[in-house]
Amino acid sequence: MPRKIIIDTDPGQDDAVAILLALASPEEIEVLGITAVAGNVPLELTAKNARIVCELAGHTDVPVYAGCDRPLNRPLVTAEHVHGKTGLDGPVLPDPEMPLAEGHAVDFIIDTLRAHEPGTVTLCPLGPLTNIATAFRKAPDIIDRVQEIVLMGGAYFEVGNITPTAEFNIYVDPEAADIVFKSGIRIVVMPLDVTHDALVTPHRNDAFRALDSKVGHAVAEMTDFFERFDIEKYGSEGAPLHDPCVTAYLIKPDLFSGRHINVEIETQSELTLGMTVADWWGVTDRSPNAMFISDVDAQGFFDLLTERLARL
Ligand code: BDR
Ligand code: CA
Repeated sequence: MPRKIIIDTDPGQDDAVAILLALASPEEIEVLGITAVAGNVPLELTAKNARIVCELAGHTDVPVYAGCDRPLNRPLVTAEHVHGKTGLDGPVLPDPEMPLAEGHAVDFIIDTLRAHEPGTVTLCPLGPLTNIATAFRKAPDIIDRVQEIVLMGGAYFEVGNITPTAEFNIYVDPEAADIVFKSGIRIVVMPLDVTHDALVTPHRNDAFRALDSKVGHAVAEMTDFFERFDIEKYGSEGAPLHDPCVTAYLIKPDLFSGRHINVEIETQSELTLGMTVADWWGVTDRSPNAMFISDVDAQGFFDLLTERLARL
């Protein structure tokens, strides 16, 4: 039985690839809906980009909802410097024809969790955690119904990418992240520690291009675009493909390993706002609340991704 998921996202080229991987994997994943949140770019664009990606995959049947347009307590911080003005710069893709689904993303999350048996719906956040935290605040009864949260966010050994100590998704809405990490739900975290090993090398990008399909070319052009930023910044061989680690984990968890540890979110300090304070070495008596992933079989991950994208 495929696992039922809601993808909460701020596309973003790497979000786009994560969505494509999920839609290409119906044996393992059933996407109940996609909820857009403000993050990499403003909500209007993330809600549009999510539909562009669904159409690229030929899956206009998946409902896309627009959610929160700003973090709980703070002004929105965006990342056009990484993802371009549209958030999905790189390939030239048509504007979406499919409409947004009616209603607010937060209500879709609440209604979907209430409509399914408890413990049968997994949440997959790929952006700031505003929609998820808002749903938990509005309807605390749904917290116990969530099967698991598998999210991209945070960092420990790699520390920060948007500030010296914070990863973008957590930094944008640290109060929302705090609510999620304190929820008591089983959480699997894909931090920068692991996504920085999932590098799109030229060889791996050529493999996407060699699929010689609309999807293969679009993915290669997306990664070409956002690679320029990371290659310049890190001097690495390619850019990290962050968000697809979440959907790959749902398909092949054996590709990943980590530790079940305590993770707290810094919400006060100006200097370290949004830091994921991860007790990797078990030096506190705080209870573990997250499976913090540290390693990935990177080639296995890219082989899986390429094989699945070939299906679209
Ligand atoms: C995260 O931030 C965004 O820019 C990416 O889409 C990813 O979700 C990486 O820090
Ligand atoms: Ca993202």
